[in-house]
Amino acid sequence: MNSDPMKLFPWLLLLILDVLAFRIDKSIREKAVELMKQAPLIDGHNDLPLRLRILYQNRLSKINLKILNTTVTNIQKLQSGHVGAQSMNLWFGLSMFLFQFWSVYVLCSAQNKDAVRLTLEQIDVVKRMCQIYPELELVTTSQGIADSKKIACLIGIEGGHSIDSSLATLRMYYDLGVRYMSLTHTCNTPWAESSSKQVHNFYPNLNGLSSFGKEVVMEMNRLGMMIDLSHTSDSTSRMVLRISKAPVIFSHSSAFSVCNHSRNVPDDILRSLKKNNGIVMVTFYTKVLACGREVVNVATVADHFDHIKKIAGSKSIGIGGDYDGVDQFPEGLEDVSKYSALIAELLRRGWTERELTGVLRENLLRVFKEVEKVRNDSKSMNENENEIPQREVQNSCRLDLRNPPLQTANVLPISYGSPSVVQTLGLMFITVIYIILH
Ligand SMILES: *[C@@H]1O[C@H](CO)[C@@H](O)[C@H](O)[C@H]1NC(C)=O
Ligand SMILES: *[C@@H]1O[C@H](CO)[C@@H](O)[C@H](O)[C@H]1NC(C)=O
Ligand SMILES: [Zn+2]
Repeated sequence: MNSDPMKLFPWLLLLILDVLAFRIDKSIREKAVELMKQAPLIDGHNDLPLRLRILYQNRLSKINLKILNTTVTNIQKLQSGHVGAQSMNLWFGLSMFLFQFWSVYVLCSAQNKDAVRLTLEQIDVVKRMCQIYPELELVTTSQGIADSKKIACLIGIEGGHSIDSSLATLRMYYDLGVRYMSLTHTCNTPWAESSSKQVHNFYPNLNGLSSFGKEVVMEMNRLGMMIDLSHTSDSTSRMVLRISKAPVIFSHSSAFSVCNHSRNVPDDILRSLKKNNGIVMVTFYTKVLACGREVVNVATVADHFDHIKKIAGSKSIGIGGDYDGVDQFPEGLEDVSKYSALIAELLRRGWTERELTGVLRENLLRVFKEVEKVRNDSKSMNENENEIPQREVQNSCRLDLRNPPLQTANVLPISYGSPSVVQTLGLMFITVIYIILH
């Protein structure tokens, strides 16, 4: 065996390049983690509370959220936020904090039934969990996020059916700490159209926002609650973008031009969103990322980022993983410890640290601050006392107390105020007839 050194040369070169590439990539991965430590991620959407209800009936005393392994979210993973087995040693000891919008979600099938009770129970479980664990804390303001040294918990409602068409209920949710609401889930409400057409058959003739829907939007502006357009139809989104005084969010959606799923945002809405100063928090659900393609990985997600940046700029982007809301995630992004793989991929594609700081955190904070400013500027406005027209919400669960049923009125130990003009005239008429007849 006499080998020609010239024949070995290409192999040697390849080896050197390989080692070099590995080194470069390692430094990119380290840079991603470093970036996430400096600018902790605010994820727009996590459905752990829904899992807690389904799996444990919200019995927090029965589980340990630090190490829970029936979900893809737990406190240890949230704190580590970094990549799996082979990189474990590399990153060991680094700890970063993530901020989380916990989604308060009740199924559309609760619409016109007990959606309000179920929503209150989900708010209760988020509040208790963020109180019990010293690693977590509930925050309700942009300043609270900026100041927090823990995993900050924020509350977002997913689906306008949670307010049962009542502005007073919306206000009470705000008082309880809710800071965003998606106008719909996969069902139309009486006042807003959903992007899902085949899932439920509620209010099928609705197109976009009704006039009561516009009042919901304006009341959310006044209160300082962020409007979330994920799951709403394009016509709902376009109408909201036309009337909202504050920037809006898509808490978990991706780009329609990359995968034409009805949940995703088309380019014209991305352009309006840029003008509105709002953001799309790109979601990791494989079905809306890849439209059925077989291989779905970190690069697939990055393609959505690149496209949205091209159309609306990097300042219009955030991250809304939807962990524990769906059960298929891209390779490399399987749970809440893996976000940094995406940040590394975006670094490889030439995204700057400044752009990524925006994606991780600053863009959402900007929206939140502007929403708070609109609230502060609305101080002279009163609560909207309008009710949705009765004909738009006819269902057996609504009691109309303007006309209490007779048997109910009889047992109530209260009077219903002074008699109306008609009643008074009637009484006078009967009295006159009585006097005449006698
Ligand atoms: C999940 O956690 C339970 C209880 O903490 C433990 O018994 C089980 O082995 C864990 N399963 C896995 C796959 O880690
Ligand atoms: C998505 O694209 C496919 C193939 O081009 C087409 O058949 C389908 O109707 C489109 N879906 C939507 C929602 O536009
Ligand atoms: Zn969702």
